[in-house]
Parts: sequence; C-alpha cells; structure tokens
Amino acid sequence: MTKIAIWCRHEGDNIIGIGENIPWHVSSDFKRFRRITENMSIVCGQTTYESFPNRTLPNRKIYVLTFDEHYEVSDKENHFVVNDANELRDLEEPLYICGGASIYKLFMKKMPPEIVVDSCYKGELNPELKGQPVDISECMERIKKDYWQISPDYDEDNIVTTIKIKKGEFIPQEILKHITFAIINR
Ligand SMILES: NC(=O)c1ccc[n+]([C@@H]2O[C@H](COP(=O)([O-])OP(=O)(O)OC[C@H]3O[C@@H](n4cnc5c(N)ncnc54)[C@H](OP(=O)(O)O)[C@@H]3O)[C@@H](O)[C@H]2O)c1
Repeated sequence: MTKIAIWCRHEGDNIIGIGENIPWHVSSDFKRFRRITENMSIVCGQTTYESFPNRTLPNRKIYVLTFDEHYEVSDKENHFVVNDANELRDLEEPLYICGGASIYKLFMKKMPPEIVVDSCYKGELNPELKGQPVDISECMERIKKDYWQISPDYDEDNIVTTIKIKKGEFIPQEILKHITFAIINR
C-alpha cells in the first residue's frame, strides 16, 4: 500500500484548523482535494469525518479512525470504522491520509506516507473562528528532514502546492502521475 498525505496548512505557523474548522475558504483548494481523492480510499479522524457535509464525501471509500467501537458511520457500504490504525497496514490500494492533525501525526510517526501533497496557504486566517488552533508543525519538521520536493511550486489562489516524497522509498509512477494531473488539470 502506498500512503499519500494531503493537507493545506497556513504558511509560517502550519495551522490546519481552528476548533473543528478550516480557517480559510478557497474553493480551488477543495476542488483540487476532490480531484486528487475522488474514487480513492481515504482515512480521517472522527473529528474531521464529522466536519464533512452530511458526514460524507461522495465517491470515496472512507476509513474513519475512532477509539469508539460503537461509532456509527453515515454510509455503511462505503465508510468503515477503524479502531486501530494497524488494521490499515494490509490494504492493497493507495490510501490518502486526509487529517486532521492527530491522524497526520499518527501516520508520520508510525506509518510515514511515501508521498505528501503539501499545500501552503499564504492568506489571512478567518478572524471570526473560535477555538484552539490545530497545527502540524511536528509533521513539517519530519518533512524537512526525511522528504524531497520533486515538483515545481504550483501556485493557485494564494496556495502553493508541492509534491514531496520520502527519501529512499519506492514511489509508484502511476500515483505520481494521477496527483500531478489532478493538480494541473484545474
Ligand atoms: N487544512 C487541512 O488540510 C485539514 C484537513 C483535515 C482536517 N483539518 C482540520 O483539523 C482539525 C481536526 O484535527 P484533530 O486532530 O482535532 O481531529 P482528527 O484528527 O480529525 O480526529 C481526532 C479523532 O480521531 C480519533 N483518533 C485519533 N487518533 C486515533 C488512533 N490512534 N486510533 C483510533 N482513533 C484515533 C479520535 O476519535 P474518538 O474521539 O472518536 O475516539 C480522535 O478524537 C479541524 O480543525 C479540521 O478542520 C484540516
């Protein structure tokens, strides 16, 4: 299984959320996320899952990480509760890691993604949002040490997206092609 982390963080402080929300609204960012993850398998934490409209993302298989053994998903055919991330180790298909912070950190430590789609937002944070800032600075420390940037900077609407790969890992070319095509083909 190839693991791909995909996120959009704020430049400088690496904030990805405030409380349960993403503190910016850039529609091209959502569209890029959809093009990359549509028809794919994704994994997310329970908080992020609850933040999806109607607790779903169409045309994706969703693995929801929660410690709650009785957690109920909104779509039993396509969404699956996972209580232990190790259960995902034997998946054959590529797995897109979609947050939030606790899940990015978990994978970075225990099952580092071979590929990271690193989008960096350079605008202002929504000042009206209440709640604790959630950041992925510790993931970015790992990225600096263990990953190469293999793409140019793709700049769209104040967000710069780059593709990074883990040093020394085998990277399937068809996955890189899919991601690159999805980023470029707006
Ligand atoms: N900007 C972006 O790209 C982006 C992407 C995604 C999310 N976000 C933001 O990130 C924030 C949410 O991040 P978060 O860290 O607070 O929440 P989260 O990672 O989405 O979910 C946390 C929950 O996941 C479950 N969990 C965590 N570790 C687990 C493990 N090892 N095994 C099983 N279950 C586990 C727990 O659920 P239970 O409590 O049910 O046990 C935990 O409460 C929000 O602000 C969201 O908007 C931003």
